[in-house]
Amino acid sequence: MNSTTVKKGVRDATVSRFDPGTVRSDFPALSVTVKGKPLVYLDNAATTHKPASVIEAITQFYSAENSNVHRGVHHLSELATEKFEESRRKVQRFLNATESSEIIFVRGTTEGINLAAQSYGGTVLRNGDNVVISAMEHHSNIVPWQIVCDRVGASLRVIPINRKGELLQEEFERLLDERTKIVALTHISNALGTVNPVQEMIRTAHDRKIPVLIDGAQAVAHGHVDVQELDCDFYAFSSHKMFGPTGIGVLYGKKELLESMPPYQGGGDMIKSVSFSKTMYADLPHKFEAGTPHIAGAIGLGAAIDYIGELAMEEVALHERRLVQDLTDALTDLPGVQIIGTATNKAGVVSFTIDGIHPHDIGTILNEDGIAVRTGQHCAQPVMDFFGIPATARASVALYNTTKDIQDLVAGVRHVQKVFH
Ligand code: ALA
Repeated sequence: MNSTTVKKGVRDATVSRFDPGTVRSDFPALSVTVKGKPLVYLDNAATTHKPASVIEAITQFYSAENSNVHRGVHHLSELATEKFEESRRKVQRFLNATESSEIIFVRGTTEGINLAAQSYGGTVLRNGDNVVISAMEHHSNIVPWQIVCDRVGASLRVIPINRKGELLQEEFERLLDERTKIVALTHISNALGTVNPVQEMIRTAHDRKIPVLIDGAQAVAHGHVDVQELDCDFYAFSSHKMFGPTGIGVLYGKKELLESMPPYQGGGDMIKSVSFSKTMYADLPHKFEAGTPHIAGAIGLGAAIDYIGELAMEEVALHERRLVQDLTDALTDLPGVQIIGTATNKAGVVSFTIDGIHPHDIGTILNEDGIAVRTGQHCAQPVMDFFGIPATARASVALYNTTKDIQDLVAGVRHVQKVFH
């Protein structure tokens, strides 16, 4: 069988193929023009585009299946409930969770971490305890822990990084003690692209009986995540960074932990019975899903998982790593360009600065060439402070990016330098 007869990549060991040129046609938004030029989209760490199958699944739901879930005996409500719960089972299989009740639908990574911080952290943390995070966390894995620590008199401890943007493992071990109640770590840094050795770090924390939350926002679109293999206690991610819709994401939690935790929000659908004297909460996962959920979003996420499931993700990861390496090599060759984040194990992201040019100006001029990158602090101000810079320009790749995108960006960076010098 040759590549033309294989649809995209497939999970068949004998015909594993992945062709980024072919998958591009699945994403309608990649055909738009910007300033009269074809879009070069390199802002995938902020959000990814959506394949037609995801857009169609959402349209189909609102066109022919729209109804509320868990509340009606009528046809549409049963259909909506079945599709919503089927999406939960798809997430379960996607993460290799033991049970679908371990999958909590939330608005995104941020809400997932807030849920864990408020419900788990708020229950176990006492005055004098500590939470261990790292110096490369996104604000969404810093501030929720700060809020709960401030409330109870606990403190944050921060694993330092080196100049390459790698966590100092010996320091990590030194920070853990009998007052550490949870470790919360990013799987892949959104600002630096560092892939952290989370499996080993989870083992280190578990040796001391400390649970670990992983922020998987930047990881789920770039390779295979198996929560049983990682043995993490919580794993949070957003649908929109893995080709699904915005406004929906997942907090995975080990069942025994989730069962021990109080609800995060109260309202409809999270109860067994309510009276003015006592409310009995629903079983997992509904205990953590108060109110009407983002039904279309969950169905769209299910369609995104189906889409990814058709691809050979190992080849996707290799392809992306090649793009990251090619871009790194090309930018390193340009005088005055610095790569911020040079970890040995990197994925998805190349952050850079250019001498004498503010990153916002880099982004503005690249936009004139139809090139989309993110500029700023990337919701990771402590990372910028560590490197002593106000901001970076950040190119971030997804499975549909090509070598030509990288060449266009490098040409765009040369153009930026020409404009300014
Ligand atoms: N967290 C997203 C990013 O890194 C928004 O751009």
